[in-house]
Amino acid sequence: MAKLNSILLYCSIAIVILSSIPLAHCNIAQGPKAVENWFQKLSHAKPKITKLHFYFHDIVGGKNPTAIPIAQANSTSHSPTAFGSLAILDDRLTTGPEINSTTIGRAQGIVGAASLEEFSLLMSLNFVFTHGKYNGSTLSLLGRNPILNEYREMPIVGGSGVFRLARGVATAKTYTFSKNGDALVEYNVVVLHY
Ligand SMILES: *[C@@H]1O[C@H](CO)[C@@H](O)[C@H](O)[C@H]1NC(C)=O
Ligand SMILES: *[C@@H]1O[C@H](CO)[C@@H](O)[C@H](O)[C@H]1NC(C)=O
Ligand SMILES: *[C@@H]1O[C@H](CO)[C@@H](O)[C@H](O)[C@H]1NC(C)=O
Repeated sequence: MAKLNSILLYCSIAIVILSSIPLAHCNIAQGPKAVENWFQKLSHAKPKITKLHFYFHDIVGGKNPTAIPIAQANSTSHSPTAFGSLAILDDRLTTGPEINSTTIGRAQGIVGAASLEEFSLLMSLNFVFTHGKYNGSTLSLLGRNPILNEYREMPIVGGSGVFRLARGVATAKTYTFSKNGDALVEYNVVVLHY
């Protein structure tokens, strides 16, 4: 919670600093004309750095899984790395590791086991923020996730809303991993945007 507060504080500071620039960072106008205007004003906009910290709840077991297998190859069952399996997910993102911690968004996307030799996923997902200043904005992640490594670094390749034209890096670290395959993953995301 303290981290989220500091993020929100950072956002308000950014608004104060940038208030001379006619851009509503945390309550951004929508629609084709608004997007076009936003681009026209870009030459006056200074890039800024936003840091996000959250926990990603990947629930595969129980009655209400948020990550479900959708396809696999015939050979997947013989693969030591589950090569060829695909899953779709809509995982909760929270401010802290606790189950009752505040939800700030969802991670929605498709992940696939894409390595013959190790447990490594191709991640293609959107972080969909639903709380506070970033409510309605998204960040898109596309990267390689060798899940047994301590730190996995994945590119943020774009965004929408407050995060239009974002570029950045997400660092993932497994916080807990249960026997039934549920994982709690800590994410630190740093993005450059306008
Ligand atoms: C996969 O297995 C099914 C059922 O055994 C079989 O009909 C199909 O031809 C197999 N596909 C490939 C690509 O080997
Ligand atoms: C979360 O649950 C724990 C007990 O499991 C409790 O101590 C804590 O106050 C709860 N936090 C919130 C934000 O509800
Ligand atoms: C997020 O935005 C939606 C749509 O504008 C709104 O209905 C919802 O109440 C907002 N949620 C929060 C937590 O601000």
